[in-house]
Amino acid sequence: MSTASFALLPSTTPAADVVRDNILAAPGFGQYFTDHMAHVRWTLDAGWHGHEVRPYGPLTLDPAAAVLHYAQEIFEGIKAYRHADGSVWTFRPEKNAERFRRSARRLALPELSDEDFIGSIKALLAQDHTWVPTPKDAADECSLYLRPFMIASETFLGVRPAREVDYYVIASPAAAYFKGGIEPVSIWLSSHYKRAAPGGTGFAKCGGNYAASLAAQKEASDHGCGQVAFLDAAENKWIEELGGMNLFFVFKDGRIATPRLTDTILEGVTRDSVLTLAQDEGLTPEERPISIDEWREAAASGELTEVFACGTAAVITPVGELVTEEGPIRLKADNGNPVAKRLRTKLLDLQYGRAEDTHGWLTRLV
Ligand code: COI
Repeated sequence: MSTASFALLPSTTPAADVVRDNILAAPGFGQYFTDHMAHVRWTLDAGWHGHEVRPYGPLTLDPAAAVLHYAQEIFEGIKAYRHADGSVWTFRPEKNAERFRRSARRLALPELSDEDFIGSIKALLAQDHTWVPTPKDAADECSLYLRPFMIASETFLGVRPAREVDYYVIASPAAAYFKGGIEPVSIWLSSHYKRAAPGGTGFAKCGGNYAASLAAQKEASDHGCGQVAFLDAAENKWIEELGGMNLFFVFKDGRIATPRLTDTILEGVTRDSVLTLAQDEGLTPEERPISIDEWREAAASGELTEVFACGTAAVITPVGELVTEEGPIRLKADNGNPVAKRLRTKLLDLQYGRAEDTHGWLTRLV
């Protein structure tokens, strides 16, 4: 794959080293951004053109830009990791590129090639690689979180696919997504709100899905929970996913199950990687429907020994309890989540170059 050529407009006001170092010491999640952003424009007539890396800063959009009214928008989440020798790598970017195209098709946006998707990340990192934090130890999950996104920028209030579109990549140094790191999180079960319906956009990574999850996420916070779990829209029975991550269930007999992919579930790259790593670990991965009754009954009987959430931002985070309107669902015994911890260590060791990349999942950026 040859890298598309990105013109460089360097920032005249990059952060001073001391400012950047202070940010990298405690970046939180999604609060600080690097000096540049990558950009590619698309028009119906000219296709993708104008590849550039330019200073990070506000966009100029007409108030009638279609994205502001009809939410014709998609995004991705992917990270850059610094290895001990100083090199910078990313994880399975072709999976994100492929998902970005799937999302684009569903939102009637133009498809971006692997070359432009991965090329835009490489071009941005060529400028901003000093923003990739160095992990303090093997438990440190600091990284540079990359957010590619595509918006309908055409000035037009008619409802039809936009004929002018912009694609950007911004980058944000990140620590653990949940404040407690790998401390188990409490999850709220939304009994009223639904995230996605058959035929809808649930499988696409579009802003609208996340907007639709926010009222339920607020309900979760009001109940002291860090995330919300959604059930299916048709039967209100089957576990789908959390507001921004997939779910796994670990059973006493070595099975590890996650809801099978449907058009209402986002195909997580971490989800897919966990399925492979679990097999490598001698566990028996299962992709199948999992009901809320199974969760309740298997937790009570002790068959279910761990539940964890996973995603690019969340990595692998144990779920301590599911809070529902009928009371909490807790595991019969707290075993300290050894499977979640083992898989998390395997994944992080791979991503940070501490373990051999036997699956060929890493791509060097710098
Ligand atoms: C990611 O894991 O990359 C996401 O997009 C989820 C979001 C809640 C940060």
